[in-house]
Amino acid sequence: MKFATKAIHLGEVSLEKVKPVITPIFQTSNYALGEEVYQAFSGGREREVWVYTRHNNPTRRATEEKIAALEGGEDALVVASGMAALSSVFFTYLKPGDHMVTSRHLYGGSLNLIRKLREKFSIKVSFASPDDPDGIIDASTSETKLFFFETLSNPLLRPFLVEGVQVFARKRGIKIVVDNTFLSPYNFNPLQHGAHLVVHSATKYLGGHSDLLGGVVVGDGDEVQRVWETYVALGPVADPLACFLLERSLKTLHVRMERHNDNALQAAEFLEAHPGVEKVIYPFLPSYPWYSYAREHFRGGGGMVTFKVKGGDKKGLEFMKKLKIIKEAASLGGVESLVSMPFNTSHYSLSPEERKAMGIEEGTVRFSVGIEDIEDIISDLEQALR
Ligand SMILES: Cc1ncc(COP(=O)(O)O)c(C=O)c1O
Repeated sequence: MKFATKAIHLGEVSLEKVKPVITPIFQTSNYALGEEVYQAFSGGREREVWVYTRHNNPTRRATEEKIAALEGGEDALVVASGMAALSSVFFTYLKPGDHMVTSRHLYGGSLNLIRKLREKFSIKVSFASPDDPDGIIDASTSETKLFFFETLSNPLLRPFLVEGVQVFARKRGIKIVVDNTFLSPYNFNPLQHGAHLVVHSATKYLGGHSDLLGGVVVGDGDEVQRVWETYVALGPVADPLACFLLERSLKTLHVRMERHNDNALQAAEFLEAHPGVEKVIYPFLPSYPWYSYAREHFRGGGGMVTFKVKGGDKKGLEFMKKLKIIKEAASLGGVESLVSMPFNTSHYSLSPEERKAMGIEEGTVRFSVGIEDIEDIISDLEQALR
């Protein structure tokens, strides 16, 4: 071999001899082909072999198996972002002329995607309240293919009462897709309550450290295979480094969520008692309208607290500027405490009328309670409200 050939071909490690205790980052776009691969391809089992990283990757596969186990599903798919997960699911189950029932109580980006599905692909959409199973059933037509709701909505924390629609949906062949981002699989497993597919923005609690973007889809093997086929065609690949970070983060999900749950409940109780705060929404506060449902179904109330500062959006913005530890940032679900106001972040794409119609009132602050010491979080809130 001459220099260039040596540089390219020598020094490759044989993986058979290496036994790492964790799944390494398989930073490779493709793999050597062989008889086994050709056979899997001709037998429609492309996802079982290693051919090309858009199709499959060992680091991603480890992450998928872990998240499937944690959500209680047969299989999972990890993609580039929460929106990639949602678009892969919608493109799998909907075609022009089909109808879906969903809610205005969704992340603004999801509402934006649904608007595009209506305008560009002639998908028909009806809106119902996630906590009103009869309303969801009444909104269905013979063309309904999908129910899509968040298990705890962004930002007003409304629950989706999935048990109330699951018998109807199964009878009518309607797929129930839920976004379980806010609760995380630690607090709630929707597949055990009648959902067909669970979607997450893994950017949030699953990743947990505000350092990756990712999305997941979990469900029965056949359904995930269908979504995988759409995803392979669309191409929103989660890169191996993001998958590695995500898989590592999942190992501490239970520890982080316990602390998020405890801190959020204490912060919610503090805010509810404060004269500068008009209203607090948190599933484990007795004032929450679905309190007994939440206590019965959720292991914890989650890390998100939504509250209304007295004095409207102007006072809300002033309050956020005064915080010293809690940062003003748009995302959520990380170890650090973050605040934002939906009107200029997660729901900026909606008109003021649309925001009002969905109940995002002036002064609404969305608080992603981190896992710092709760005394420090509460003193920060205290001094900023003062
Ligand atoms: C509930 C919910 N679903 C989906 C998304 C979209 O996820 P991503 O930003 O990872 O695409 C978000 C983002 O904030 C979200 O809050």
